[in-house]
Amino acid sequence: MNNSLSDVFRITSFGESHGDCVGIVIDGCPAGLPLHVDEIQREADKRKSSRDRPLATGRREADKVEVFSGIFNGFTTGAPICLAIWNRDIDSSEYEKIKNVVRPGHADFTAYEKYGGFNDWRGSGRFSGRITAGFVMAGAVAKKLLSTIGVEVVAHTIEIGGVKSNPPQDIASIRTAMINNEVSCADPVAAAKMIDAVKAAGRDNDSLGGIIEVRAEGLPVGFGEPVFDTMEGCLAKAYYAIPAVKGVEFGAGFNAARLKGSEDNDAFTVIDGMVRTTTNNHGGILGGISSGMPLVARLAVKPTPSIGKLQRTVDLTTMEPTSIAVGGRHDTCIVPRAAAVAESVTAVVLADFAIRAGRIARVLR
Ligand SMILES: Cc1cc2nc3c(=O)[nH]c(=O)nc-3n(C[C@H](O)[C@H](O)[C@H](O)COP(=O)(O)O)c2cc1C
Repeated sequence: MNNSLSDVFRITSFGESHGDCVGIVIDGCPAGLPLHVDEIQREADKRKSSRDRPLATGRREADKVEVFSGIFNGFTTGAPICLAIWNRDIDSSEYEKIKNVVRPGHADFTAYEKYGGFNDWRGSGRFSGRITAGFVMAGAVAKKLLSTIGVEVVAHTIEIGGVKSNPPQDIASIRTAMINNEVSCADPVAAAKMIDAVKAAGRDNDSLGGIIEVRAEGLPVGFGEPVFDTMEGCLAKAYYAIPAVKGVEFGAGFNAARLKGSEDNDAFTVIDGMVRTTTNNHGGILGGISSGMPLVARLAVKPTPSIGKLQRTVDLTTMEPTSIAVGGRHDTCIVPRAAAVAESVTAVVLADFAIRAGRIARVLR
């Protein structure tokens, strides 16, 4: 098992959906970073689910961030930072009913086989989207670190259920436009259509997936440690730790395979004395190293596996075919919440690279 990510700014995830708490331990965060729990809470709230949001799960959790170590007198101390939220609104009854009847599309079958049935199945245990609350708390600390060198990250929804958006291309405009709707989409016309599509899928006891775009600006040239800790490699590893992410591409991505070299190559130029490119098909990464252009990644998120529609499955105790209609509290579409998580893990990986590249010191004065 591996519950840790990255090298120097290293995070370790713990907790289960219906255990006492979920959280994160951050090792290697420089000392002297001014940090208040409210800043971490603001980020955690972006991922949070509540009954007040019609697209989200019925689970109502305060998700109040608690700091157990590593922050003292308003600054990080250099010691491990332990952050957690409690699980309070727990109802395992729906899971009790189906604990041996594996949900299609979920991790029930593989987890049962791998851990011999000892895995905590309540609320999907370690395979619940809830564990990503820890990723977001770590992301809050990473973003604060990155702000000291002028690096900013945003993740927004660009597609849900086949409805595509036409978003602005800079972080400031994306941020302003996306906060006005519950699908975190920076195009208000597309956002309204996405919300209608999600509501219609929900009425049909079904679910929808979509695509998230991540963008980071202010990156210097030189982040990434080839050949195995490339920018793409480390980011992709972090993205695939987000449950339900099934595809990742950078820049032109899969479409680059359909272009000629003369079309895909980004011409170099000089802007304000710095080498830049006139287009960004490379998505800000060349040779696994940041190029100084904006980082652009896209993540495909599958539709929520737990749906009310009747589906065929197997009862693992009888080894007989059966059917399942999943009840309980599930989001019809997890894309907007996964976007907050994608933004956070991007910040964690970039903060790690920044420290490794010597751009952020081990003690901030
Ligand atoms: C923020 C978030 C919330 C999620 N909520 C649900 C949910 O309510 N119901 C569900 O079936 N899956 C949910 N998932 C997805 C499952 O956890 C995921 O599909 C499952 O663990 C199988 O893993 P895989 O899809 O990566 O193969 C959520 C994922 C995220 C990131």
